[in-house]
Amino acid sequence: MNEQAPNFPDSASDRLVSDNLLVRNYLASVPVKKITGEAEQQQYRRDIAALLKEKKAVLVAHYYTDPELQSLAEETGGLVADSLEMARFGRDCEGDMLVVAGVRFMGETACILSPNKTVLMPDLEATCSLDIACPIEKFSAFCDQHPDRTVVVYANTSAAVKARADWVVTSSIALEIVEHLKVRGEKIIWAPDKHLGRYIQEKTGADMLLWDSACIVHEEFKAKGLLDMKAIYPNAKVLAHPESPSSVLAIADVVGSTSQLIKAACELPQDTFIVATDQGIFYKMQQLAPEKTFIVAPTAGNDASCRSCASCPWMGMNSLQAMYQSLRDGSNQITVDPAIAKKAMIPLQRMLDFAAQHRMQVKGKA
Ligand code: 13P
Ligand code: SF4
Repeated sequence: MNEQAPNFPDSASDRLVSDNLLVRNYLASVPVKKITGEAEQQQYRRDIAALLKEKKAVLVAHYYTDPELQSLAEETGGLVADSLEMARFGRDCEGDMLVVAGVRFMGETACILSPNKTVLMPDLEATCSLDIACPIEKFSAFCDQHPDRTVVVYANTSAAVKARADWVVTSSIALEIVEHLKVRGEKIIWAPDKHLGRYIQEKTGADMLLWDSACIVHEEFKAKGLLDMKAIYPNAKVLAHPESPSSVLAIADVVGSTSQLIKAACELPQDTFIVATDQGIFYKMQQLAPEKTFIVAPTAGNDASCRSCASCPWMGMNSLQAMYQSLRDGSNQITVDPAIAKKAMIPLQRMLDFAAQHRMQVKGKA
């Protein structure tokens, strides 16, 4: 069942080494964009707010971005949300322009769903390890080998991969859509995140052929460290994003998308939570539940030093400075080939229609 993705090294450990090298090389090559002081930061915020107004632009930010960007989105009438709600809100909001603070697939999705809006991103290099690990040529060949299967792809993919799919899903809605396909007797190709795929497979019992890749951030969460931490905080609940390894999900009290984890943090009676996802989410959790304590789940090990642990390096490329420059100059516009956009629109629209029909809670502000 778990066929190897054709482009990847042979073993999971080889692949992880390859992913980690990729991230290390990336981190070494990118100059750190540092804002020196509070005054400069405040100036950027004012300038960005003025430019958003002038250009009739709306800022849409993901929960993993810098709290500075999340609060700016809120203050300027934009949205902070998970990837599903970012897509829906971007399509439905008024305005001529969207500024997407997130990663490339989020910008591309906005571009496909809002063909009449200009879509800018602070940094066009901000991508995702899942997107990188699922190149269209290899993926398309893989699908061609299994023509009897319905192709379901995670939103964290390129527009071209979406164009090859029957369905796009995000982690907020993947379980429900796969369950729906299983009831219809459909067999599934799932790509690219194997951990999320396996989690859904176990929950639904669907027949799923899994592409073999993972998120380099979530894959670093370790079950052993998590158990040690639980011993220190016996009353804490563990919240985990389903891109985490199955050994971590097995320990988690709640497994869900970013918005589902935020909801759980607010609704559960406990006052302490160990959180296995990008720590950018703590901004919203702390804002909605200021009296509670949120602790980042342990990653590579006691002595490890890890610059991308619990912190997505690509989400981190979204800075105030980059956003200001992009808005001022109209630079970093995301475009998608119209023929690809037309095809990718079909599975994206299916997902949004499904969410609307099932009256799913897809509100970003948890
Ligand atoms: P959500 O869809 O839960 O926001 O997750 C997106 C993502 O990239 C998680 O790593
Ligand atoms: Fe991709 Fe992982 Fe970053 Fe999410 S956290 S954008 S899945 S690399």
